[in-house]
Amino acid sequence: MNALKKGSVMRTVLTESPQRAAKFIAQGDIVAFPTETVYGLGANVFDEKALRKIFIAKNRPADNPFIIHIADIADLALLASRVPRSAEKFIEHFFPGPLTLVLPKVHSVPLIATAGLSTIGVRMPHHSVALSFLQACGVPLAAPSANLSGTPSPTTWQSVASDLNGRISCILKGGRTKVGLESTVVDCTGAVPQILRLGAVTLEQLREIIPSTRIAGRKRVESPKSPGMKYRHYSPRARVIIVSNPRDVRPTVNAAFIGMEVIPAVKNFRFHRICADIEKYAHELFDFFRHCDDANVSIIYCQSVEPKGLGLALMDRLQRASH
Ligand code: TXA
Ligand code: MG
Repeated sequence: MNALKKGSVMRTVLTESPQRAAKFIAQGDIVAFPTETVYGLGANVFDEKALRKIFIAKNRPADNPFIIHIADIADLALLASRVPRSAEKFIEHFFPGPLTLVLPKVHSVPLIATAGLSTIGVRMPHHSVALSFLQACGVPLAAPSANLSGTPSPTTWQSVASDLNGRISCILKGGRTKVGLESTVVDCTGAVPQILRLGAVTLEQLREIIPSTRIAGRKRVESPKSPGMKYRHYSPRARVIIVSNPRDVRPTVNAAFIGMEVIPAVKNFRFHRICADIEKYAHELFDFFRHCDDANVSIIYCQSVEPKGLGLALMDRLQRASH
């Protein structure tokens, strides 16, 4: 509670200038910034005091490691003690992009950044404002998604402000994020690359580069290897129900629907969003969740999709939200 009070009294500066936002990082403060996936909440990875501020602002459990963001491949040397061959191949094909690689960590990165793990998750965002901001900061930034723990990741600066206004120093404003789901997290420290979190880079794409890539078993994901996955994630307050055939749903006054099929009853829902394809569905999902929560919707019906390509990550988020 103390932390909450302490975190909620500051003035949050809104800016479109990466240089102005970078000044807050240099002072040891924390800044929300756009990426192609979702907005991140950044701190200098070498500044333990700044890293602590992220936990307080987000109400984040201390055993959940951060993803570290870089603007230049050369910065990997500041973070990873070794870049395995599998990681080199993924970097060549997917950096910059929505892919986080888990690598062996160097000692100089504070353990608080990786929740005590000897590995470190690194990614280079594919977003011009994010890259300008990282360059202006001149250091890699530890950045979880810029939401309060437990709420859906923010895809607009307005969503960041609704969760974190008064709790962080600055929001670097950008447009709506392009992808809308978080990055794919792949552990490259073992003999076979293992996907710890499904995301925008698909299993199929990774297998084109390294065919043995596989999805880590649930047990492994919930072990200390990727502690973040054990927490409730991506969840609106409203109840989420996944439906395979939206025509079977009986709309009620306080229910909403998101999916890809236009059904006759759609206008009887309080809100609905029909998405032309899986990319648009992924792009809209978290924003729709937040829109429904703001209006106190009680049930959100979400149409299921085929679990392949980006659909696999989308189904993962729907399943997490529905638990
Ligand atoms: O798209 C994204 O990844 C966004 C943007 C801001 O980059 N970031 C993001 O961060 O989603 P966060 O903190 O919400 O999720 C980080 C995930 C967690 O599931 C965490 O457990 C996992 O990455 N992770 C980070 N470092 C790890 C490590 N060393 N080993 C295993 N998992 C790790
Ligand atoms: Mg998050």
